[in-house]
Amino acid sequence: MEFSIKQGSPEKLKSGCAVVGVFEDGKLSKAAQALDKAAKHALSDLIARGDMSGKASSTLLLHGIPGIVAERVLLVGLGKASELDSKTSVEILRATFKALQDTPAKEAALFFTGDFAGREHAWVVRQAVFAAAESAYRADSMKSKPAKPPALKHIAFITPEPPSAGSKTALGQAAAAAHGMKLTKDLGNLPGNICTPTYLAKQALALAKAHKSIKATVLEEKDMHKLGMGSLLSVTRGSAQPAKLITLEYRGGDKKQQPVVLVGKGITFDSGGISLKPGAEMDEMKYDMCGAASVLGTMQAIAEMGLKLNVVGVIPSCENLPSGTATKPGDIVTSMSGQTIEILNTDAEGRLILCDALTYAARFKPDTVIDIATLTGACVIALGHVASGLFSNEDKLAQELLAAGEQAHDRAWQLPLWDDYQPLLDSNFADMQNIGGRAGGTITAACFLSRFAKDYRWAHLDIAGTAWKSGKEKGATGRPVPLLTQYLINRANGK
Ligand code: BES
Ligand code: MN
Ligand code: ZN
Repeated sequence: MEFSIKQGSPEKLKSGCAVVGVFEDGKLSKAAQALDKAAKHALSDLIARGDMSGKASSTLLLHGIPGIVAERVLLVGLGKASELDSKTSVEILRATFKALQDTPAKEAALFFTGDFAGREHAWVVRQAVFAAAESAYRADSMKSKPAKPPALKHIAFITPEPPSAGSKTALGQAAAAAHGMKLTKDLGNLPGNICTPTYLAKQALALAKAHKSIKATVLEEKDMHKLGMGSLLSVTRGSAQPAKLITLEYRGGDKKQQPVVLVGKGITFDSGGISLKPGAEMDEMKYDMCGAASVLGTMQAIAEMGLKLNVVGVIPSCENLPSGTATKPGDIVTSMSGQTIEILNTDAEGRLILCDALTYAARFKPDTVIDIATLTGACVIALGHVASGLFSNEDKLAQELLAAGEQAHDRAWQLPLWDDYQPLLDSNFADMQNIGGRAGGTITAACFLSRFAKDYRWAHLDIAGTAWKSGKEKGATGRPVPLLTQYLINRANGK
């Protein structure tokens, strides 16, 4: 899908479909008024007849409207201008692209992005790009016959004034973020027998090949042994697939500028190990590498944007499977940091690979480290599928990430990292145990990670509830690529 932004008038612009807004009670937007005038009141007539109420997210497709150059007109209900909050606005944009995908139109011209009262134009454009990309997304790479590709190929944002350089940049960045989300979704949706740690490593090398600004390095198990990553290696012991530690370095900023390091959990299948998970919905544990996929997607997006910033991606990747060689409950391992860990539950494996990756991240002399992980089922219980869980050892960083999430409509919610929770990780035999019990399971997981992130500014995003959807709509969401890219854009802009 291609995107453009330009000046134009609704009645004169040639396109497969002109999209205009109608407010509640059939009140025409400016663009709809212009069409109505050119069409000798064809629109106001059908509104008067009750065909379009203007209710938020309602749509009405019209053909052969006289006096209008566009082949079709799509009326989109915007509801009450005063009620256009972020949720309603996103729903309207999704409904718009759903309706457009049901037409054979190859290109659409959107005249309504200025009608979202109270929302910045760049915000509306960004969400429209995400909604367009989502409507065109097909997870069909494993089908013997791929689905028919959508007809809609080009989206033009039409403004009454010439678009500013700022809105052109915003559009380019939104498209790059959408491309990054697509990579993240594709990787997430692949099955565990295809998307192995080796496959992720190949993806990283391919990304480096496609972008001169990215360098990729892959460490093997023998390298991890040398580094003393006993915790990471304990998770891969039951698997026949070799573990990988993948690094991506994007140097877009000043040589001396300290990087942001993104650490992504890359468990390509989580069976639980010897602490085996129940069978129901276990297939969804192929998504346990969505943190890693979001790091790859974000790196691709910022390289495409050419952000003036240094960013490093670190991806510890392996499978978590039971076998005769697998780690057992009660086993004690030594992490790269030197701290020892009693593994009471082999299903709490994400923290075991992340802790060594966090220690490793210090090599890059980071300004900030953010880890992204499908870490706990408890996070899904706490926040559902709406917000990602956020923790940080610095409140300013937490605020910046929360703000980026609002800006990108990819929201997170902060949970406490108080020391009061730390004793739940006390072990009789090692420096700590890897689980803290049922109560506050998301928080104790974050507390565990915090013990390995003491030397830098750090945040943790638990995306267990937001990285994919279950049920009939099963599929990766591409989150939190919008949040992460927005945070990095803000940083590059010095905000
Ligand atoms: N990958 C899972 C977390 C998960 C579970 C994400 C379900 C999304 C849906 C993680 O490795 C895990 O198994 N966590 C355990 C931790 C527990 C053993 C302390 C969990 O959440 O049950
Ligand atoms: Mn697990
Ligand atoms: Zn897991």
